[in-house]
Amino acid sequence: MALHILTDDITEEFAFGGGAGGAKSWTGCSWLAMMCIAYPGTRWFIGREELKRLRESTYQTFLKVAKEYGIKQGEVWKYNGQDHYIQFANGSRIDLLDLKYLPSDPFYERYGSIEYTGGWIEEAGEINHGAYDTLKSRVGRHLNDKYGILGKIFTTLNPKKNWCHTEFWKPYKAGTLPANRRFLPSLVTDNPFVDKGYISKLQSLTDKIKKERLLYGNFDYDDDDNALIARSAIDDLFTNTFVDKGKSYITADVARFGKDNTVIMLWSGWRVESIHTLQKRSTAEVAQFIKHLSTKHGVPRSNIIIDEDGVGGGVVDLLPGCQGFVNNSSPLPNPDSDKDENYKNLKTQCYYMLAAAINAGRMFVNADGNLEVQETLSGELEQVKRLNADADGKLEIVPKEKVKELLGRSPDYSDTLMMRMFFELKKPQEWLHF
Ligand SMILES: Nc1ncnc2c1ncn2[C@@H]1O[C@H](COP(=O)(O)OP(=O)(O)OP(=O)(O)O)[C@@H](O)[C@H]1O
Ligand SMILES: [Mg+2]
Repeated sequence: MALHILTDDITEEFAFGGGAGGAKSWTGCSWLAMMCIAYPGTRWFIGREELKRLRESTYQTFLKVAKEYGIKQGEVWKYNGQDHYIQFANGSRIDLLDLKYLPSDPFYERYGSIEYTGGWIEEAGEINHGAYDTLKSRVGRHLNDKYGILGKIFTTLNPKKNWCHTEFWKPYKAGTLPANRRFLPSLVTDNPFVDKGYISKLQSLTDKIKKERLLYGNFDYDDDDNALIARSAIDDLFTNTFVDKGKSYITADVARFGKDNTVIMLWSGWRVESIHTLQKRSTAEVAQFIKHLSTKHGVPRSNIIIDEDGVGGGVVDLLPGCQGFVNNSSPLPNPDSDKDENYKNLKTQCYYMLAAAINAGRMFVNADGNLEVQETLSGELEQVKRLNADADGKLEIVPKEKVKELLGRSPDYSDTLMMRMFFELKKPQEWLHF
């Protein structure tokens, strides 16, 4: 099927991959060898992060393919070990390209003027997006019209959360790939030629994440061991409609004026009943909004919490009786836990508790069909990760600055969700109600 796609008249960008041992390399080598022979004088490339690995691994597969199909070395083709290309007697040629990212050549200008018929990027999970972008514009430029063949770029890969995920896997799953772009899963179980030992080796992997990626070709498995919240639990958050209603709360993360978003969540028990995003509002306007929301939904002032760092402090002052959340304040004794855990600060403690609640499926977020909010919150929750314990053995999470760098914005939604845990730590004593 992959070879079929590689020779059709529609697909210009084709990603083939997923698991290990699904004949990705074999397919790439077969395709190029056959194209070189069928179309004399054409020019192709195989690119990989490191030329050394290209020679030690991909080129070795090429040798096997040539042998298997009787494409005689020395007679039909030979390898130029000095300039790293495979020269065919009929004038066709395959360049082996080193696609390592070089700070001195961030846009891969070293390949910016070569004209190729088509090409293949091997192990694209290791490749910088700039290389893909440049090479994409270099194919379809050498004898394509003469032979009537489409300029194609073939990408082989194992699951990785880089550009391959956003450009191929996600739209593939959502069914939104454009007509000229395709993804085809490749699993070891599809390959009848693989050694039996290969499959059992993958099955016996003890590293859960590796196994998900390499045996099942799962791109959505979070490849970060340090993530505190399971990806599936994050997805469930938006469909856990069965979660009971309860006491009402409001949590709010206030933006610096003109920057980020002010996010306000209205809670009933462990249900987020509504999410409000305010842009460019003064502290007075934010306070007014919260006041209105609390009156409308009967939220006692003491059940409102607002981050007190920075601008939020101004809102806290305008709503006397509400709680202020100070990220870096000391952790609080947890009335529901006898575990003696040592958190770096209150925020870390609340994030750990939030992770536990989400992982247990105890929380529901009503995103009200707003997919953008849902994606944003999900992305932020994925970034909640433990940091290696410091010298004192205190539990830490990846700091906000790092998360900001990764997301390109502040994790406002997850922070607002996290503050809800404060009320589990500061449970009022059970007063008598007459
Ligand atoms: N058509 C074929 N005929 C004979 N052997 C094949 C064929 N296709 C694949 N194989 C064999 O199957 C095995 C796996 O193939 P290949 O190395 O291409 O997989 P891969 O997906 O690139 O794996 P990896 O993830 O390890 O890079 C190899 O031993 C290869 O020789
Ligand atoms: Mg391979």
